[in-house]
Order: sequence, then C-alpha cells, then structure tokens
Amino acid sequence: MQIHTPVLIEAIEARSSVNFFQPGQTLSDRAILRLVDLATRAPSAFNLQNWRFVAVRSPEQKAKLRALASGQAKVEDAAVTFILCGQHPRQGSLPSLLAPSVEAGYMPAALAADLSAAADAFYGGNVQLSRDEAIRSASLAGAFLLIAAEAHGLGACPMVGFDADGVAEAFGLGEDEVPVMLVAVGPAADGNWPQKPRLAPTSIAKLV
Ligand SMILES: Cc1cc2nc3c(=O)[nH]c(=O)nc-3n(C[C@H](O)[C@H](O)[C@H](O)COP(=O)(O)O)c2cc1C
Repeated sequence: MQIHTPVLIEAIEARSSVNFFQPGQTLSDRAILRLVDLATRAPSAFNLQNWRFVAVRSPEQKAKLRALASGQAKVEDAAVTFILCGQHPRQGSLPSLLAPSVEAGYMPAALAADLSAAADAFYGGNVQLSRDEAIRSASLAGAFLLIAAEAHGLGACPMVGFDADGVAEAFGLGEDEVPVMLVAVGPAADGNWPQKPRLAPTSIAKLV
C-alpha cells in the first residue's frame, strides 16, 4: 500500500481534540462556509446529505450554547461552535438531491428514480433506522469537519457534553433534526495536549 496523499495522512495524525482556544478570535462567513463545504464532502447514504450546520459565532449565541453545554469554556472561546445536526431522511427528498448527478451525465435518470423509491421504502416508517442514518451522516460530516479545520491550521473539538433537547429548543431545530455533536473550531491557544495514544490496530481489528 503506497502513500498517495501524504499531507492527508499528516493531518489525520496531527489532529487532536483542542481544549483551549484563543478567545476573541473570529472566522469570516466565507471561512465558515468553506469549512461546511468541506465537511459535506463526506459521503452519506444515497447521497441524502441529511446534515445541517448551525454555526454559532456571535457572543450572545455562544453564551447561550455554553450554558447548554455543561459550561464548557471552549464553546465560547472558539471562533465558532457548530451544532452539527443529522436529519431523518425525508420521504420524496431524493429526486432533487440526485438531479445534479443526472444532469452531470453519469447517473442514468432511471437509476435515480429507482434509488429514490428504494430510499423511501428503506426508511419509510422506520424511526430507529431514520435516526441511525441522521447520526451516521452527521458523524461522518463531523469527522470531515475536524480534518478540514486541521488543514487550515485551526483547532477543533467534537463535543457530546450538551443538553440535546435544550439545544434543539433554544436553536429552533426541526422535529426531524437531531443535534448529534457540537464542534468548536478556531485558532488554538497554547497548552493543548497532542493526539492521545490509540489502541493497537491488532487489538481492535479482526481480520477474517
Ligand atoms: C462524539 C465525541 C464527543 C466528545 N465530547 C467531548 C466533550 O463534550 N468535551 C470534551 O472536552 N471533549 C469531547 N470529546 C473529545 C474526546 O475526549 C477526544 O476526542 C478523545 O479524548 C481523543 O482525544 P484526541 O482526539 O485529542 O486524540 C468528544 C469526542 C467525540 C468523538
């Protein structure tokens, strides 16, 4: 197995969960949207793209979010803290999501129609599976967001320590939107730990 993109491996190996951010730093709307763009290059089932991002960046909104996140200072100190949401797949949503692939000429229209029907049948009425898909998609987007931040020299930290119901209410999330994780992003301060040691692959991988 040869290394094709060494910088990507460097980013994966260098990334760590940043606890201390430089307070008072900001990111432009353009920078925030670029991070969202890169996060959404993650795959999603059927290309559902069932993720949504609430970029919490104003001092008032960050203070509101921090109060719902066990008072974690990084929510406020980071330039932006994303509420990364996954959506339950919506019936009938795929045709418009697949249309660009059809228009680009590589997905036959009949296949798009078949996939749309298959997705509706697969998720329809299955709340558990729909929620699982919301969490899967948002988690993959979160991983890409962490790497995108690293690629821009920014620190980032995923967080599960928050009141999901409180966040959903305070930030007006829809019924079918699950706040999966918070991701604080911004210039890191000094004093952060490096990436922590991981279990040996041989202890967690089963080669069958
Ligand atoms: C889903 C998830 C939730 C996490 N929640 C928190 C959190 O609420 N607060 C926090 O300080 N770190 C949180 N972390 C960061 C983890 O503690 C961290 O990723 C882990 O210790 C490994 O550290 P490293 O990424 O720097 O190697 C979370 C990480 C993940 C993936």
